[in-house]
Amino acid sequence: MEHDDPAEALTELRERRPSRLELLQVAAGSGLAVYGVWALLLQPGFRRVPLRLQVPYVGASARQVEHVLSLLRGRPGKTVDLGSGDGRIVLAAHRCGLRPAVGYELNPWLVGLARLRAWRAGCVGSVRFHREDLWKVSLRDCHNVSVFLAPSVLRLLEDKLQAELPAGARVVSGRFPLPTWQPVAVVGEGLDRVWAYDIHRGGPAGQAVPGPGSASVLGTPSSQTG
Ligand SMILES: C[S@@+](CC[C@H](N)C(=O)[O-])C[C@H]1O[C@@H](n2cnc3c(N)ncnc32)[C@H](O)[C@@H]1O
Repeated sequence: MEHDDPAEALTELRERRPSRLELLQVAAGSGLAVYGVWALLLQPGFRRVPLRLQVPYVGASARQVEHVLSLLRGRPGKTVDLGSGDGRIVLAAHRCGLRPAVGYELNPWLVGLARLRAWRAGCVGSVRFHREDLWKVSLRDCHNVSVFLAPSVLRLLEDKLQAELPAGARVVSGRFPLPTWQPVAVVGEGLDRVWAYDIHRGGPAGQAVPGPGSASVLGTPSSQTG
């Protein structure tokens, strides 16, 4: 319908209900936009990773980071975050004296963001962020390992950690526990909970037993230390 009066046209437009086709177009447009963001920002780097091993980015909460550090603070040797996201755990580890601190991350946008954050924090030469597949990284010289990954990949990760980590290494897992290992300490509640596991030479497959100085709660996996 033609209108000479713009006010009348506007009123009609306001009162008009969208047709089904228009609603469908809006839904399809929104779906495409979401897919575009996912494909552009989250998917790069994962093309060669099998679907079952793909873990999306979710940043650790401030409290979760605190708990990770409380379980690693003061430990010597190289600290790594497997799937380091925007670098928050690596940067916090560096700040509390865990050096060298290194992040491995597949998503190039997140690697870039982590490097930018390191630059802004003035520690660009001291922390490192590698764009690498965590499943292909050798962990033989890593003494402190932080992971915050999906439960679906943690069983497989146990095998890798067990095969590669040196005796005395500690693994901390945020939000989800390693499925078959016994933790030596557990800190925090709910989504912020973090589990610690110590690797011992000659121990039974993947079974963590308390190391010197560890807050040992062996045999009581759900015990709290904080
Ligand atoms: C849940 S997020 C945790 C991010 C960060 N560690 C933190 O705590 O804030 C998991 C991260 O692992 C990364 N990731 C998943 N699979 C990976 C792989 N095969 N190699 C390297 N990074 C991976 C994802 O891109 C994502 O950034």
